Amino acid sequence: TDRYAVFGNPVSHSKSPMIHAEFAHDTGEKLDYTAIEAPLDGFAEVWQAFVAEGGRGANVTLPFKEEAFALCDTLSHRALRAKAVNTLIVGGNGRLYGDTTDGIGLVRDLAYHRLTLEGKRILVVGAGGAVRGILEPLLAASPSEVVIANRTAEKATALASDFTDLGKIEGGGFAAISGQFDLVINGTSASIAGEVPPLPENLFAKGAWAYDMMYGADPTAFLLWAGPRGARLLDGLGMLVEQAAESFFLWRNMRPETASVREALRQSLN
Ligand code: ATR
Repeated sequence: TDRYAVFGNPVSHSKSPMIHAEFAHDTGEKLDYTAIEAPLDGFAEVWQAFVAEGGRGANVTLPFKEEAFALCDTLSHRALRAKAVNTLIVGGNGRLYGDTTDGIGLVRDLAYHRLTLEGKRILVVGAGGAVRGILEPLLAASPSEVVIANRTAEKATALASDFTDLGKIEGGGFAAISGQFDLVINGTSASIAGEVPPLPENLFAKGAWAYDMMYGADPTAFLLWAGPRGARLLDGLGMLVEQAAESFFLWRNMRPETASVREALRQSLN
């Protein structure tokens, strides 16, 4: 049986083993997928041991995505843009291939909900690693404009400038946000503290969507803020499932169906 795992610290809360077990069951693929907690200073060692024991690939979550990036022999263009990987693939020749599926997971989740991005005006809130990871696939979907707004304005400006060759993109502070948006994506970790970034009123265009990259049993603070302001709401559960599906595809060359896993995962939160 081919072995896969998710590496993180902490990792016991990870939904990835459950998701990949479902995918394996549905596609009839025989594989074993576990969660492995590496010590904060010992990711590379634990990873090498896993490969020595026959590990074929892995997902990587916090705080090892940048370290995993540094270990790879070959990186996808989207991983190079993200400067991080969440998917490791051990090649037949022993070479290590790295990719990041978070951004494509977000775009596929939006497509699943019949949300098209072409010509749309998108606001991305936050300028950390999570946001960097989604910008290439977002810009590839041809929105009219992407605006990045962050508490620390300079981080948003710097991040945007790394992507200007891919489309119209600008960064700044919250106070610089102007106009309305068809999609507002919260990529900050403010939700963890139950906080909402100070966003202007009248942010949402008619029919706009609010998307929180976080999810939980209850709606996030950002979605609770966005709902009464007229937005249609999505949390990050679908993105989690779709990034997993994309990793599964990279390893097994098979695309699992995500509807039933979405349902099972949603149920498991309550
Ligand atoms: P991640 O890997 O989740 O992106 P990160 O790189 O530490 O983590 O980035 C966290 C993001 O959430 C940053 O954009 C941060 O804003 P700053 O760059 O100004 O620090 C944002 N953030 C965290 N807590 C926040 C809060 N309470 N209000 C607004 N933004 C917040």
